[in-house]
Amino acid sequence: MPYIFGVTMVQKKKKIIKKKSVKKKNSSSSNKPSTDKNILDEIIRVDHAGEYGATRIYDGQIAIFGKDSKIGKTIQHMADQEQEHIEKFNELLIEKRVRPTALLPLWNVAGFALGAGTALMGEKAAMACTVAVEKVIGEHYREQQNLLEEDEKDLKKTIAKFEKDELEHHDIGLEHDAENAPGYKIMTKVIEIGCKTAIAISKKI
Ligand SMILES: [Fe+2]
Ligand SMILES: [Fe+2]
Repeated sequence: MPYIFGVTMVQKKKKIIKKKSVKKKNSSSSNKPSTDKNILDEIIRVDHAGEYGATRIYDGQIAIFGKDSKIGKTIQHMADQEQEHIEKFNELLIEKRVRPTALLPLWNVAGFALGAGTALMGEKAAMACTVAVEKVIGEHYREQQNLLEEDEKDLKKTIAKFEKDELEHHDIGLEHDAENAPGYKIMTKVIEIGCKTAIAISKKI
């Protein structure tokens, strides 16, 4: 009897060990959640397009105000940060093998026209443009961070840093009396809709 009991215990132990090893195998083979490649491509494509557009908006404003004017210097500070952003996304396009949007020539012209056009309306209007654009880009960067998984934590950090910069630009706009620009509400609404449309198109095309 003690012999049979001993054998049963040994068999039970073996079963437990087997179960544990299967469990261990499963847990080591279950990868961390990874970001969907299509989503990743869209994020990099649209962010590259957006940063390119932003550099062109500030180019247009500086072309009107001149970079040595007081407002020109403030805009140059934001333009320098946009330059860092676009350079990072230029690298990411290559590193992640993502096709840029086919609409860069359009954003080149549209961005410059928006920047120069609002600058021609005055300093407050130029800053209202910044408020509207950076609000949309800042929100967009916030949303994107939720789409990136553990495997893209570096990109997530980069986007979080850029989000902070964009919100700083947004606040610079407000500090420079953007809200007192003539037709502020309608102008910012139109620019926000334009930016959101550009984002939707640049993800795909
Ligand atoms: Fe930017
Ligand atoms: Fe910005």
